[in-house]
Amino acid sequence: MPVSRADAAGGTGSAADFLPPRLSYPALRKAAAGCRGCHLWRVGTQTVFGEGARKATLMLVGEQPGDKEDLAGHPFVGPSGALLDSALERAGIDRASTYVTNAVKHFKWVPDGTGKRRIHKSPNASEIRACHPWLDAELDAVRPRVVVALGATAARALFGPAVRVLAQRGRVLPTELAAAGFVTVHPSAVLRTPSGEHAAAERAFVNDLKKVARYLGKS
Ligand code: URA
Ligand code: SF4
Repeated sequence: MPVSRADAAGGTGSAADFLPPRLSYPALRKAAAGCRGCHLWRVGTQTVFGEGARKATLMLVGEQPGDKEDLAGHPFVGPSGALLDSALERAGIDRASTYVTNAVKHFKWVPDGTGKRRIHKSPNASEIRACHPWLDAELDAVRPRVVVALGATAARALFGPAVRVLAQRGRVLPTELAAAGFVTVHPSAVLRTPSGEHAAAERAFVNDLKKVARYLGKS
C-alpha cells in the first residue's frame, strides 16, 4: 500500500489503494471493509457497502450512511430508509429488486455537545473523491440500466459538479454510467420539510420515482 502524506491524517487519499486484484462483487465488499482511503474509517464504526439485487436494473445512490446505518452496517435502514421504502412502494418499485448504496461508505459525524447524539456532517469533496472507486466498482459489478442520485452529494458524485437537483429532478440525464441517470431529492430533505409542506414534498419525491419506474417500464 502506498504511504503518502495524507496517511498522517488517517487515510491514503483514495479507496483505489484498497481495490482487490479481481473486481468480483464478493471481493469488493470484503476489501471495502478494510478501506482506509480517507480519514473517515476512524470516524465511522464500519464500512457500509451497498446492498441489493446483484443484477439490479435500478441503482439508488445516497450520500453516506447515517447513525442507524453506521451501527447496523446496512444502507438506508434508518428513518431516511423507511421514507425511501414507502416512496419506492408508492412508485411501484420493489426495493428488493434494486441495489442501494451511498457516495461515501463511512458515517461522518460530530458529537452534539452532550455526548448523547451523533450529528451527521456532510462529506466534503476530497472524501467523496477518495471513496469514488467503490461507487465505480459497484456500477461496474451491478451494471444497472438506470442510476438515481438521491440528493446533491450523490448527484455530484455521479454526474459532476454542474448538476442541479431541483432544476433537473425527475428528468432523464444522459450519462455514461447507465442507459439513463436521474436525480431527485434526498429522503432526509423530505423528512426535514416543515409539516405544512411535508406531504407535498413527499408527493414530489414519489413523483420523481414514478418517472424512473415509467422509464424502466418502457426501456
Ligand atoms: N442517508 C443516506 O444518504 N444514506 C443512508 O444509507 C442513510 C441515510
Ligand atoms: Fe474508504 Fe470511503 Fe470509508 Fe473513506 S469513506 S475510508 S474512502 S470506504
